[in-house]
Amino acid sequence: MTILDFVIFFRFFFLLIQGLALLPRWALSTGRRRQLAAVAQLRGILEGELEGIRAAGTWKSERIITSRQGPHIHVDGVSGGILNFCANNYLGLSSHPEVIQAGLQALQEFGAGLSSVRFICGTQSIHKSLEAKIARFHQREDAILYPSCFDANAGLFEALLTPEDAVLSDELNHASIIDGIRLCKAHKYRYSHLDMADLEAKLKEAQKHRLRLVATDGAFSMDGDIAPLQDICLLASQYGALVFVDECHATGFLGPTGRGTDELLGVMDQVTIVNSTLGKALGGASGGYTTGPGPLVSLLRQRARPYLFSNSLPPAVVGCASKALDLLMESNTIVQSMAAKTQRFRTKMEAAGFTISGASHPICPVMLGDARLASCMADDMLKRGIFVIGFSYPVVPKGKARIRVQISAVHSEEDIDRCVEAFVEVGRLHKALP
Ligand SMILES: Cc1ncc(COP(=O)(O)O)c(C=O)c1O
Repeated sequence: MTILDFVIFFRFFFLLIQGLALLPRWALSTGRRRQLAAVAQLRGILEGELEGIRAAGTWKSERIITSRQGPHIHVDGVSGGILNFCANNYLGLSSHPEVIQAGLQALQEFGAGLSSVRFICGTQSIHKSLEAKIARFHQREDAILYPSCFDANAGLFEALLTPEDAVLSDELNHASIIDGIRLCKAHKYRYSHLDMADLEAKLKEAQKHRLRLVATDGAFSMDGDIAPLQDICLLASQYGALVFVDECHATGFLGPTGRGTDELLGVMDQVTIVNSTLGKALGGASGGYTTGPGPLVSLLRQRARPYLFSNSLPPAVVGCASKALDLLMESNTIVQSMAAKTQRFRTKMEAAGFTISGASHPICPVMLGDARLASCMADDMLKRGIFVIGFSYPVVPKGKARIRVQISAVHSEEDIDRCVEAFVEVGRLHKALP
């Protein structure tokens, strides 16, 4: 090898080493550029989607409450107190002093949280006693807690039903029931809202399957209408079906002692499975549950994915819900007070010329038809210190826009009357009333 060969070889070797050393930096910068391009592309897609929502007039903005939940609240950017008519705080237990005290006590005694799912290291004595209390309240064999009722609905159908089975669902069921059913492999039938002839036709079709489960909301939250559970149970008995009811908008306040739609309609012994929430009438924190036959609850503990793979309910939440149930089991005066105020609102509004959908449920949708009218009237109500929300398409069908008013046991009669007066004033202003 001559000196020249050696220099050329050395130089080649040097460049090769340098190239290899540079390669990662070069690759990284290209990678980074690709990464930035991907993020820019994502931003473009997201902006487009958001623009679409704004253009469709379906943008949901959130008002910021700066006080506790209750009939009288403070809202960021609005001076003075606001009368709140749009929470699911049907019994006013979200800020009940005994409920708050029970939450504080559970927090002190059992800590902030479990840092675990139930079956690993996340079951405390209070979880077991709340489950037993829920089962007792609903007069069922057993109950299982979930982080939310959305989770209870997401967990139930997949754990229970196989491809041999069928589920028959009301077309207006809550999104969480629809999603829960999507996750299961059973045959799916959707019947028209509250339409018993259609349900019967679908039950006939579904005779070929092993199990048939009829799934319905007890009370439907957009219209305040109630499932005809007596007819559903009758059809279920004729066609060998099980009945599942989501009682989120019924537990604690429908029926003579607030047990729910099944108590209201006298079919507690015929509804096999109930799912409900702790996040509305029962203290309003969060959490959900399934209550029903013992073996079903045992199976859910083994198979329901939101139960197996999500953290235990925090002790404070358990403490609050447990106290809420105690209050309801001790007396039904809160339930009766809510019913009386609901009646007062419905009667006065109808006398003033408004159409209120549903019957005797504390969800009182003031039907207006036009989306813009509903939204403008809700804004003008807020200017008068009344917090209500307008709902329009796609949350409700086109042409059926409304302002949904929700009555609570802790509204005073004066609160109700002030709300009605404001509606009359705003209704006249917008020519929704003569
Ligand atoms: C009928 C119905 N089912 C289920 C849910 C979900 O309940 P949670 O808030 O406990 O997840 C809701 C809540 O809006 C509901 O209205």
